[in-house]
Amino acid sequence: MKKILLVCVALVVLLVGGLWAGGSKEPAKAENKLEIFSWWTAGGEADGLQAMFKIYKQKYPNVEIINATVAGGAGQNAKAVLATRMQGGNPPDSFQVHAGRELTDTWVVAGKMEPIDMVFEGIKDKYPKGVLEIISYQGHIYSVPVNIHRSNVVWYNKKVFEKNGITPPKTLDEFVAVAEKLASRGVTPIALGDNGIWASVHALESILLAVLGPEKYRGLWNGSVKWDSADAKKALSAFTVLLKYVNTDHAALSWDQAAQYVADGTAAMTIMGDWAHGYFKSKGLKGGVDYGWFVTPGTNGSFIMLSDSFGLPKGAPHRENAVNWLKVCASIEGQDAFNPLKGSIPSRIDANLSLYDEYLKSSMADFKTNEIVPSVAHGAAAAEGWVTKIQDIMTIFVTDKNVDKAAAAFAEAAKAYAK
Ligand code: GAL
Repeated sequence: MKKILLVCVALVVLLVGGLWAGGSKEPAKAENKLEIFSWWTAGGEADGLQAMFKIYKQKYPNVEIINATVAGGAGQNAKAVLATRMQGGNPPDSFQVHAGRELTDTWVVAGKMEPIDMVFEGIKDKYPKGVLEIISYQGHIYSVPVNIHRSNVVWYNKKVFEKNGITPPKTLDEFVAVAEKLASRGVTPIALGDNGIWASVHALESILLAVLGPEKYRGLWNGSVKWDSADAKKALSAFTVLLKYVNTDHAALSWDQAAQYVADGTAAMTIMGDWAHGYFKSKGLKGGVDYGWFVTPGTNGSFIMLSDSFGLPKGAPHRENAVNWLKVCASIEGQDAFNPLKGSIPSRIDANLSLYDEYLKSSMADFKTNEIVPSVAHGAAAAEGWVTKIQDIMTIFVTDKNVDKAAAAFAEAAKAYAK
């Protein structure tokens, strides 16, 4: 009897102890961590993130930072991992999310984020009004934009251009002529790495803008321009022409492997956001010497923008550490450390210009004066559900190059979402 009683007492002790240690949702007291989720794994983007971690570490040396990155670029894999974690009640402390529809439609409207107006106390006037609008919903701010990226840029190998007597094209026709000349000389004209299909959507948005112009490009997202209109079809046809000039192994490569083709001179150009600038610099290449850039032909005067931001999920396990992280992201110190490496410009207006190179200065100037239009490939223009449909259509379109079929499918997808 005594034995049975002893066993029972031991069981109760074990059970209560177990609940205390593992069953409770409270993090153990000793754990002082900060888990940051992103898809920044390539050169440039990973370096920029580390630079912000360094600042955080200096301010909060006792916090252990967990760098939770998921490879794939443009979040294609990362977003699925994040969704599973969020649905399972296991959010990271803060995560990378594109400002605009990706932030609001996916997470804010769904009630998964905390408003973070307190992070902006006293510094709101350091942000352009348009940027604050993109990160706000019903009068509250929901994320810290760490940068502004430009999508409509072509990066090229300077030596390859010089060797072939080529200067940067300004119109789509000139672009095709340049590609033709390079192809005739045995050089792959355009490097594409769309093993994440977003990279093709990325190239397409540049061509849509080139053919439609900024007003009609916006119309694709607000429903005033139909995807099966003559204009849109013209853009889809122009895209299929460019596809003739891309590397045959594009479906096997990532965006940074395609950029490496340009770095090596295996290919001449790549249509990529300016994180490619960060990538080239991280490989020791010199902008303006080894590689050059031009705005995607036909899109001069327009700036396809996107912004990476960080937010505060409800139930962040280390909320205070996360709020401090957001303060680093919002500070000029954080942004000036991050952006020169990342290849982007700060979302704040008070950058220390001496830290920024020629390309970034030109991007800052264009951002002030150009027509600003949102990127669809990077979550600014359209809800994530729509972007997923666009990606699915692109997967087929880059292979069969059937303009009428793609136009009809895009038009059908737009019906449910364009507003
Ligand atoms: C974009 C993101 C950029 C860059 C790129 C490739 O979606 O906004 O910051 O990281 O993906 O990974």
